[in-house]
Amino acid sequence: MKDLFNVSEKVAVVTGAGSGIGKAIAFAFAANGGKVVASDKDPQALDKTVREIRTNHYSVIGVEADCTVVADVKRLKDEALGAFGRIDVLYAVPGMNIRKKIEDYTYEEFDRVVQLNLKGTFILMKEIGSEIAKNAAGGSIVVMSSIRSAVIEPGQAVYGATKAGVALLAKTQAAELGAKNVRVNALAPGYVDTPLVARIKKDPEWYRQSTERNALKRWATPKEIAGPAVFLASPAAAFITGAVIFVDGGWTAVDGRYDPKL
Ligand SMILES: NC(=O)c1ccc[n+]([C@@H]2O[C@H](COP(=O)([O-])OP(=O)(O)OC[C@H]3O[C@@H](n4cnc5c(N)ncnc54)[C@H](O)[C@@H]3O)[C@@H](O)[C@H]2O)c1
Repeated sequence: MKDLFNVSEKVAVVTGAGSGIGKAIAFAFAANGGKVVASDKDPQALDKTVREIRTNHYSVIGVEADCTVVADVKRLKDEALGAFGRIDVLYAVPGMNIRKKIEDYTYEEFDRVVQLNLKGTFILMKEIGSEIAKNAAGGSIVVMSSIRSAVIEPGQAVYGATKAGVALLAKTQAAELGAKNVRVNALAPGYVDTPLVARIKKDPEWYRQSTERNALKRWATPKEIAGPAVFLASPAAAFITGAVIFVDGGWTAVDGRYDPKL
């Protein structure tokens, strides 16, 4: 029981570690005794994350890589193996959103969102998943879906479709790697206070609506997504695979349409 939530000595590749949720996961995994290969395509942001984690004397290396480029992800895998000898956990985090109605979306914008959210996640799962599957003890893969995989608002067509796709990628890889004890799950957050949704926070009406819409009446902090992320890599989650876990303050539970005076 004492080791139920222990990830110490496990090696995690955390992508999107330069900002927001990925940065919080890198910190949380390292703070709980894990070894972290932090990765991002933005070298300055990545360097900042690595320096901050090292300040706490936690175990971390940084590898600059664009997760939409296969050669970069192969190099990321090789550098992780070179530093720590194996990979136990993958966090496939980077994602983007372009909020526009379908009729206004350009095909180039469609390709950009799909390229990062769906193909980038797929490349990470394929290249690093096969490495995790080599471990006798298996491992854990966590991808980033969203409440937008299930419930939408105008302007979320392409983002929502990619996030539903990411959830299906996780379920499929869970089926394919289960016999090797590799568990694959998706986290589906509601609003999390990161640069990705800064535009909403700047719009008072949009922000108010988005905070009042869930049961907890607020956005999440990145740390509140990092908790479930680290949990999914721990022995406590040993029987969880193929799941889409909504970390949304109750957004998808409460319809939020009306609060009757009772
Ligand atoms: N913030 C939210 O409200 C929210 C809600 C639900 C889901 N999500 C999902 O969580 C994930 C992380 O979101 P966030 O809010 O932390 O975003 P963020 O914009 O704060 O951070 C994303 C990070 O990914 C990096 N990145 C972007 N493209 C990359 C690439 N091609 N290769 C490597 N790194 C790349 C960026 O440099 C950045 O450091 C995304 O998949 C997002 O869709 C976020």
